[in-house]
Amino acid sequence: MARTYRAGIIGAGSIGHAHMDGYILTDNVEVVAVADPVAKARNQYQRAFGIPNGYETAEEMFAAEDLDIVSVCAWHLLHPGLTIAAAKAGVPAVICEKPMAIGVGAAKSMIDACKASGTKLVISHQRRFTPGWEKARDLVAQGAIGKPVFINCKVMDGLTNWGTHAIDGARFVVGDPGAIWVMGAVERVTDKHERAVAIEDACMGLIQFEDDIQLFIQSDLMLEGADAGAFLIRGTDGVLDITETTVKLMNGKSDGWEDIDLHLKEGEQAIGGATNAAQVRELINWMEGGPVHRGNGENAAITVEVMMAMYESARQNRVIRLPMEEQEYPLDLMVAEGKLPVREAGSYDIRGFLNWDGVDEEDYATLRAEGLGHHEAMMKLHDVKELPGRNFPPSSVNVPRS
Ligand SMILES: NC(=O)c1ccc[n+]([C@@H]2O[C@H](COP(=O)([O-])OP(=O)(O)OC[C@H]3O[C@@H](n4cnc5c(N)ncnc54)[C@H](O)[C@@H]3O)[C@@H](O)[C@H]2O)c1
Repeated sequence: MARTYRAGIIGAGSIGHAHMDGYILTDNVEVVAVADPVAKARNQYQRAFGIPNGYETAEEMFAAEDLDIVSVCAWHLLHPGLTIAAAKAGVPAVICEKPMAIGVGAAKSMIDACKASGTKLVISHQRRFTPGWEKARDLVAQGAIGKPVFINCKVMDGLTNWGTHAIDGARFVVGDPGAIWVMGAVERVTDKHERAVAIEDACMGLIQFEDDIQLFIQSDLMLEGADAGAFLIRGTDGVLDITETTVKLMNGKSDGWEDIDLHLKEGEQAIGGATNAAQVRELINWMEGGPVHRGNGENAAITVEVMMAMYESARQNRVIRLPMEEQEYPLDLMVAEGKLPVREAGSYDIRGFLNWDGVDEEDYATLRAEGLGHHEAMMKLHDVKELPGRNFPPSSVNVPRS
């Protein structure tokens, strides 16, 4: 009989719910504990999923529970510390949320700690398991568009937030090539943050991958059609237009655009039970001696480096060849160096509405019972009508230049 794996969740927020949905659909995993310093978050999560044990800190959870898998679902800046703590506690496998880390050095520290303890590290770029991306990867491998040449994508809400999925996905679809050089441009004229990380108002980058494949990514510029999972991929003999749940192909054999039937099943979407469950099943297979997980830490560290190199390119005004030297977060360095003066006073966080302060637990429970997701419920409870930071045209156009 297959053994049952004991899992623990760190961070009982929005994405913690998606991890739980995935574990529920995975036959041989039992979620036995959750750690979250915010009692309201922890309580509602334990109640919603019937999880017996709750802890204020991850360390307490590691000490009290014998865990096989840990999901790190706290905010970005906490990913390295929590992953390293899990590795040091001897947890055999970690699924850490994206972005893996803010800075090349921080990502490397996670890989090193997991190597030292033998912990299998997966970064939750779960869209790698969506039918659209998987089908597109197969079609590219079969030569349906000839040799892939150029990938175009458009994201918003911060490069490290959505852009990490897009860069990871672009690599996935064309066979995970390494990155050779990066050129980027960055604008930051407002004191913008995303989940406590300073981010840009807008940016763009050109990335040269191996095999002469290029990616162009723009973030928070043209918002129409911005999507963390949508790409146009041009090859020498055809074009693919894909999202996580749709694939359109045009080549010499198709009669114009051909819609590829993906035979979609319930939950097979960007973030969904089926997608998160597939990510877990591949991890268990890896733990049991199967092939390395497609979302392994080393793969995700390439995406971190590409994003950091986009910022570093803007900082240095030059093409950044990889591996890059700067280990810290170049955007923070640019801010500290006075290279990105803010023209509108006032720090703000585009995910600030996720704060539990002042949220009444019962009001939250009522909204969830009415069918609202975590983000929607928190926005309503904080009276946030529109997602902040989505100002188009870009801020430089809105803010008068001196
Ligand atoms: N893979 C995806 O598609 C996807 C989607 C959304 C969010 N995310 C990522 O998930 C992470 C969490 O985002 P979210 O939207 O769920 O945030 P959230 O605020 O809804 O949840 C985070 C939770 O972590 C808790 N927390 C804070 N410090 C902690 C600590 N030291 N130990 C344990 N718990 C702690 C908070 O109290 C909160 O309940 C982010 O890094 C985000 O980028 C990924």
